[in-house]
Amino acid sequence: MTASPPPRFITFEGIDGSGKSTQARLLAAHLRGCGMDVILTREPGGSPGAEEIRSLVLTGDPDRWSAETELLLFTAARRDHVEKTIRPALDEGRCVICDRFADSTRLYQGATRGDLAETVDRLHDLMIGLEPDLTFVIDMDPATALDRGLARKSGEDRFEDMGLAFQATLRDGFRALAAAHPDRCRLIDGDRPAATVAADVASHL
Ligand code: ADP
Ligand code: TYD
Repeated sequence: MTASPPPRFITFEGIDGSGKSTQARLLAAHLRGCGMDVILTREPGGSPGAEEIRSLVLTGDPDRWSAETELLLFTAARRDHVEKTIRPALDEGRCVICDRFADSTRLYQGATRGDLAETVDRLHDLMIGLEPDLTFVIDMDPATALDRGLARKSGEDRFEDMGLAFQATLRDGFRALAAAHPDRCRLIDGDRPAATVAADVASHL
């Protein structure tokens, strides 16, 4: 029997403020410490073009864009990110850790902002066609996560501004997504000290 190859495309998902960026950073440091060649990237963004789209979708009034327009903007950003950053790194044999990816679109635009799940899947198949090897879904109480997220005062709070009920619906959606894809998703309790969460994450690799 041969051992399965180590995961090379790893994503972090979850509600706003759940600690994804922190955990993505800690995992990248851990894997680099083990001698792996790792790039740490994020969505929306991760390439110059996608970073420009990021500021369009994350700032301004909550109703600035419809769910449909958002879906097109996030997909355009992801296509550029995959073309310019993710695919070249994977082709060079590097490990890619990404803070959010297509599961965020499935949840935010597909299931929570609008009833667009089928359109999201079709657009993903047409334009992206790439899935992570491993996804950590960081799960926690939305009120605590929202407090953490808003305390950052990043100026990119368009989705946090949609409120607690929105974040609670998202949380349920992320939990269901993790249950539906046990092959690649690991549900992680994010309501613990960052170092404890990081040790839990690392134990899955
Ligand atoms: P996300 O990327 O999911 O929005 P971040 O990693 O940016 O979350 O964390 C949001 C805020 O919460 C940051 O100020 C961060 O320092 C803090 N934070 C992250 N993880 C923890 C944790 N396990 N416990 C307490 N605070 C945390
Ligand atoms: P991010 O900066 O990761 O936010 P946070 O640190 O608060 O978790 O992501 C920005 C926002 O963009 C976040 O609220 C989720 C949203 N988003 C979507 O709605 N669809 C997507 O496809 C992606 C990647 C993000």
